Amino acid sequence: MNQQELICPVCREALRLENRVYSCNNNHSFDVAKDGYVNLLLTHQRKSKNPGDDKAMIQARRRFFDSGAFDPLAKHLKRVLKPRITDSNGSQQQNPAPHPSILDCGCGEGHLLGTLSGNRFGVDVSKEAIRYAAKRHKEITWIVANGMRELPFANDSMDHILSILAPRNNEEFARVLKPGGTLILGVPGPKHLIELRSKLTDHASAFEEKADEAAGKCASHFREMIRETFTYPQTLNQTQILDLIQMTPLFWNSSPEAKEKIRQIEELTITISFALIHFTCSPS
Ligand SMILES: C[S@@+](CC[C@H](N)C(=O)[O-])C[C@H]1O[C@@H](n2cnc3c(N)ncnc32)[C@H](O)[C@@H]1O
Ligand SMILES: [Zn+2]
Repeated sequence: MNQQELICPVCREALRLENRVYSCNNNHSFDVAKDGYVNLLLTHQRKSKNPGDDKAMIQARRRFFDSGAFDPLAKHLKRVLKPRITDSNGSQQQNPAPHPSILDCGCGEGHLLGTLSGNRFGVDVSKEAIRYAAKRHKEITWIVANGMRELPFANDSMDHILSILAPRNNEEFARVLKPGGTLILGVPGPKHLIELRSKLTDHASAFEEKADEAAGKCASHFREMIRETFTYPQTLNQTQILDLIQMTPLFWNSSPEAKEKIRQIEELTITISFALIHFTCSPS
């Protein structure tokens, strides 16, 4: 089977999938692992032996998603990614394009991509994250790769790219996105987790500047279409609080004493807030 979207990380030729092996015309080959993902991360593309989120973080993220605390965000993204087209004036219209190709780059354990429909590709540099994703969602192509380096996708191969709280390479996104396609960036909104952050660190500033920073870095490749802040309150129980800490940089940025204090809290209502910025790569 020729999977037109995937290219060889070594020579950039198209990859074919046959008998659970991806290979190119130059005989570079990559086996599909028993859990159903393919590792296209070359040794020189990683900084450490096990880059990206570790198993404890992935498991905490999986439990947190499964608890439903991010359901409103997942539902919102599903609405946003309903098939649509961008017309020549830059306005978006619903379009029943039957099977859009969607890349989630830095997809973690795959929950968000799993709620969408289309020809889906999930990339993460963490093998453990991709393993968790592949075990749950068999219908998606899961790839271990470094999203900050060259992406293993052909030019103009994706209708949508999603990058939620993950590192990115805007130049590569621009290469891979089809003309008129959409890139959606999700960064922390101004008051994201403020109640928890202020209990854990002394410098829990508002994340006002994050969306501007992210948008600024995209400006030379993409045209910004929509910027929205999606915010809701969520009451968390003790397990959810501890999982949320474990799966975010809060875990590393707070002292053992602060974390111990948090352990005593049985319930906390927090703000969940994402700035979602929609771009298109059609020329302005
Ligand atoms: C905060 S998590 C977000 C995961 C997912 N987007 C979500 O919203 O659930 C960040 C993810 O980016 C991944 N990551 C970090 N560096 C990466 C890189 N260079 N390329 C691809 N993924 C990376 C981590 O392994 C982790 O799964
Ligand atoms: Zn090759």
